[in-house]
Amino acid sequence: PPIDPMSVTFRSATGGMSPSGPVLSRRMSDLEGLFADTAAWQEARDGADPVVYEVASSPVPEAPGELPQSITTIHPGAVGGEFHMTKGHQHPNPQGEIYFGLSGTGGLLLFDGTTPKWIPMSPGVIGYIPPGWAHRSVNTGDEPYRFLAVYPGDAGHDYGWVLEHGMGWRVRRGAGEPQLVPFQSE
Ligand code: F6R
Ligand code: ZN
Repeated sequence: PPIDPMSVTFRSATGGMSPSGPVLSRRMSDLEGLFADTAAWQEARDGADPVVYEVASSPVPEAPGELPQSITTIHPGAVGGEFHMTKGHQHPNPQGEIYFGLSGTGGLLLFDGTTPKWIPMSPGVIGYIPPGWAHRSVNTGDEPYRFLAVYPGDAGHDYGWVLEHGMGWRVRRGAGEPQLVPFQSE
């Protein structure tokens, strides 16, 4: 059923939304196969198994014509030097998506299967994901990195594509700027 016009309040202290739809929590144990250093990932999983990121969704449904929104919070940290990140996905029904930086420092890694791109993200930055580009978010700072995502309700989410093709680069902690390392060199 269509939903009524509505406003949603962003809870800046927690990254939550009010009113809220589902809130999803991804722990280290949910992120098998993501990080290059498997031993470091296993150690983190078998230890505290920390929450790496959370996704709060607005009540707008994932249905054709609608524009669902979500706020992702990636907690700071790294696994074997590789920054905390989202799983990453493709939209099987290729359509654009908008990200808007809310707090903290991070980046948007995009991959079309040939060429990776990196968009540094901070509060106030709009990152645009064109149709057909897989995308992953990375926290490159030492506080929670938060952003709003707005996407077409019938875009769909394909997580297998990234597991198969990678994202072109890995994002590692460097002396200053984050290091973008070719995926194949791991
Ligand atoms: C929606 C979107 C974001 C991500 C979220 C978590 O299309 O791109 O809301 O879903 O940042 O990342 P994933 O879905 O890759 O675990
Ligand atoms: Zn997306």
